[in-house]
Amino acid sequence: MLKIAHRGAKAYEPENTLQAFQKALDLNSDGIELDVHLSVDGHIIVMHDETIDKMTNGTGEINTYTLAELKSFLITEKHQIPTLNEVFDLVDKKCFINVELKNADTSKQVVSLIEEYISQKEWDYQHFIISSFDWSALEEVHHLNPKILIGVLTEEDLDTALAFAESIKAKAIHPDYNLLNSENVQKIQEKGFLVFPWTVNSDEDIQKVKGYKVDGIISDNPDKI
Ligand code: G3P
Ligand code: CA
Repeated sequence: MLKIAHRGAKAYEPENTLQAFQKALDLNSDGIELDVHLSVDGHIIVMHDETIDKMTNGTGEINTYTLAELKSFLITEKHQIPTLNEVFDLVDKKCFINVELKNADTSKQVVSLIEEYISQKEWDYQHFIISSFDWSALEEVHHLNPKILIGVLTEEDLDTALAFAESIKAKAIHPDYNLLNSENVQKIQEKGFLVFPWTVNSDEDIQKVKGYKVDGIISDNPDKI
């Protein structure tokens, strides 16, 4: 049962910061999950929301700022917003990285960066899995490089997600855990996909989802898994 730290170990450090990812490594997570957007000058920015309002001392949409401008805003008065390269360098192959594309406009840059780390820094395809609720973004990833592992995010119909996953030869289904039971987990696995539900935080829910024999759990508290 893989432990995947949601937005880093979000229960312990500000989400999607280098500190949250370091905490996830300290907790021996098997993987980290993070969210990405593009800056106006084309850098891949790690943050959940489309704006910096919730997390920083600034306001406005990420895609209207340059990287240098984004670096001037602070999270909890001390942390800078990380780029995806910075997270890759911190993790340094110690666990796998689940990159969630929040918009289709990030597909090309993320695929290029993954290819760069594989060709130049001895990373492996197993170190990455790209997920998105925007399935057109996943189709583009598959078209750009079919070797990249893909997780199909869904909070609705599992059968539709399964059919789509088959069409793009995805590696995993990433469902809202409330959709799951023992039978449908088995059905997904029999079709050859891993099941990585999100975001499972309470002890009770973790035990319930473990009972379904999923392959991994995305949690703010990876240590509880
Ligand atoms: O990738 C699973 C989960 O992170 C999806 O929801 O809103 O936390 O990005 P959200
Ligand atoms: Ca996410």
